[in-house]
Amino acid sequence: MTQAVLPDSTREFEFTPADFERVRKLIYQRAGIALAPSKQDMVYSRLARRLRARQIDSFKAYLDDLDDPLSAEWEAFVNALTTNLTSFFREAHHFDRLYELLLKQTPGSEVLLWSSASSTGEEPYSMAITVMEALDKVRLRVRILATDLDTNVLETARQGVYALDRIEKLSEERKRRFFLRGSGSAQGYVRVRDELRAMVSFQQLNLLDPQWPLKGPFTVIFCRNVMIYFDKPTQYRVLQKMVPLLTPDGLLFTGHSESFFHATDLIQPCGRTIYRRAR
Ligand SMILES: C[S@@+](CC[C@H](N)C(=O)[O-])C[C@H]1O[C@@H](n2cnc3c(N)ncnc32)[C@H](O)[C@@H]1O
Repeated sequence: MTQAVLPDSTREFEFTPADFERVRKLIYQRAGIALAPSKQDMVYSRLARRLRARQIDSFKAYLDDLDDPLSAEWEAFVNALTTNLTSFFREAHHFDRLYELLLKQTPGSEVLLWSSASSTGEEPYSMAITVMEALDKVRLRVRILATDLDTNVLETARQGVYALDRIEKLSEERKRRFFLRGSGSAQGYVRVRDELRAMVSFQQLNLLDPQWPLKGPFTVIFCRNVMIYFDKPTQYRVLQKMVPLLTPDGLLFTGHSESFFHATDLIQPCGRTIYRRAR
């Protein structure tokens, strides 16, 4: 049940329960994101920026514009409401498993990997680092596809430039080998080295789209910390499209707080938050 939004006299724009319901409906239809009733303040502050930027003086007028499915505002609306939290080597055990799996591939073979909610790029670049380390031991041709719905984060990811503190937990060896330190105006930033950037292709993809322009097959798919925003039927529909894109022995890596008991006909657990195709 939706909590009542109390009138807040300190707010710059009026934001009624009906406005919040409209936002919830629109983002659910477009991106599958099921916003909890507790997210009213977050929604207000993120979208108020859009109203200011467009010099619109009411949520009603702003949302009326989105009644047009072709409105130019859709991209910014979706970008404003996605949550993009990520980090290098988040849930590190997945990268250990990826490394082991790479070493088991037939030498000389082509291996495709997919980061399906890549956010600002830390996840696919961590995959690329793992690949480079595996390539010290086995010769493979590896390509990484990184996709996300949010065009802003994809742009950041393509640049591959991060504040220095984003890599502070990485070993000195990894920092030296895979990042370039900025100087002058880029002081305090690092850039991922070209060999990593060359391995990763970024592309916009809405996991909700009925058709995905992807072939695979992927040896590993990372689908982490995005399904948590979807309801169970939406998660199931995404898995129905995703699982057939795995190689027969391929692995699906999911987020630490996601569970898929409702999809055991599609995937079976084989490690902590790791799944393979159901046989
Ligand atoms: C919390 S981040 C997770 C990033 C990374 N996978 C990780 O685990 O660190 C969630 C990402 O999912 C993306 N996302 C949300 N809805 C999506 C959708 N329908 N299709 C594709 N990506 C989506 C968001 O834009 C955001 O970048």
